[in-house]
Amino acid sequence: MANLSVNIAGVEFKNPVIPASGTFGNGREYEKFYPLHLLGGISVKGMTLNPKDGNPPPRIAETPAGMLNSVGLQNPGVDYFIQNELPNLENKGTVIIANVAGSTVEDCITIAQKLDDTCVDMLELNISCPNVKEGGVAFGVSCQSAAGITQAVRKATKKPLMVKLSPNVTDIASIARAVEDAGADAVSLINTVLGMRIDIKNRRPILKNNMGGLSGPAVFPVAVRMVWQVANAVNIPVVGMGGISKWEDAVEMMMAGATAVQVGAAIFSNPYCPVEIIDGLNNYLDDSHIADVNELIGCVKPW
Ligand SMILES: Cc1cc2nc3c(=O)[nH]c(=O)nc-3n(C[C@H](O)[C@H](O)[C@H](O)COP(=O)(O)O)c2cc1C
Repeated sequence: MANLSVNIAGVEFKNPVIPASGTFGNGREYEKFYPLHLLGGISVKGMTLNPKDGNPPPRIAETPAGMLNSVGLQNPGVDYFIQNELPNLENKGTVIIANVAGSTVEDCITIAQKLDDTCVDMLELNISCPNVKEGGVAFGVSCQSAAGITQAVRKATKKPLMVKLSPNVTDIASIARAVEDAGADAVSLINTVLGMRIDIKNRRPILKNNMGGLSGPAVFPVAVRMVWQVANAVNIPVVGMGGISKWEDAVEMMMAGATAVQVGAAIFSNPYCPVEIIDGLNNYLDDSHIADVNELIGCVKPW
C-alpha cells in the first residue's frame, strides 16, 4: 500500500483529503455516514467572534455543474465552537482545522487567541471575508490588506497558520507571495468565485443577496490554474480545492502543486465523496506503482 500521508506546516495528515469549510459543518452530521478518522482532516465551518445569522434566504441556487451560495457565514461564534463543538471533534483521530472568519483584523486576532489554548491543530484564515472597516472590500483582494491581516493573526497564535485565498483577484500569485512574506505557513485556495443568477420570470436575482459564490465542478479548471500559479510562486505548502468531486480531480490538483486537497460542494450531492476519493487515490497509486502520494505534488510538466 502506498504512503498517503502528507505534512503541512509540521502537521501530519494521514491522507491528503479534507472536507472544505462550510460544507461539512463540524462533522456531526457526517459521523452517521462514516468514522471521521478516515479523513485526513476536517476544515470546520467558518467562525466569527460573535454568533452570526448569515444572509436572508434564498441563499442557495443550483447552477450547471455547481452551486451559488450566499450563506453569509452563519455560525454560532467562536466561544460556542470551543465549548460545544470542539469536544466532539477532539480525539476523533483526524486533523482539526479551525476556519477563522472575522470582519475586522481585531476580530480575527481575538478568534485566533481564543483558539490558541485549544486542541485545534491548525488555523485556516479566510481572507475572502469583507473588511467592514474598509467598506466591505474583502481582505484578500489586495496584497497590502491580505498581508496585514496575515501578519496580525500570525503574531496572535502559536498554531500553524494557513491562509485561504480568494479567487476574485487579478493576480493570485502576488497575493500568495504577500501572505507568505507576512508569515503564513501554508495557503489554501480557492474560495468561491463571485457569481449571479437572475430569475427571468420576476426579473430579480435568484439570491436575496443578489450575488453569491460559485463552487462545484464548474470552477475546477479555474482552481487548477490558480493552484498551479500559486504553487510556482511560493515555497510554502498549497492546499488545493474548488470543484473536486472524484479521485481523478484530486490527482490533477496535486499534480498542479497541491500537497493536499479539500472537497466542498460535491459533499452535498454525495456525502461519501471524500472517502471515495481517498480509496480511489490509494488504488490509483498502487495500480501505477507509485509508492508515495507526495510524488504527485507539482509533477505536471508544462509545455
Ligand atoms: C455552502 C457553502 C459554505 C461555505 N462556507 C465557507 C466558510 O465558512 N469558510 C470558508 O473559508 N469557505 C467556505 N466555503 C467555500 C468552500 O470551503 C470552498 O472553498 C469552495 O466551495 C470551493 O470548493 P468546492 O468547489 O469543492 O465547493 C463555503 C462553500 C459553500 C458551498
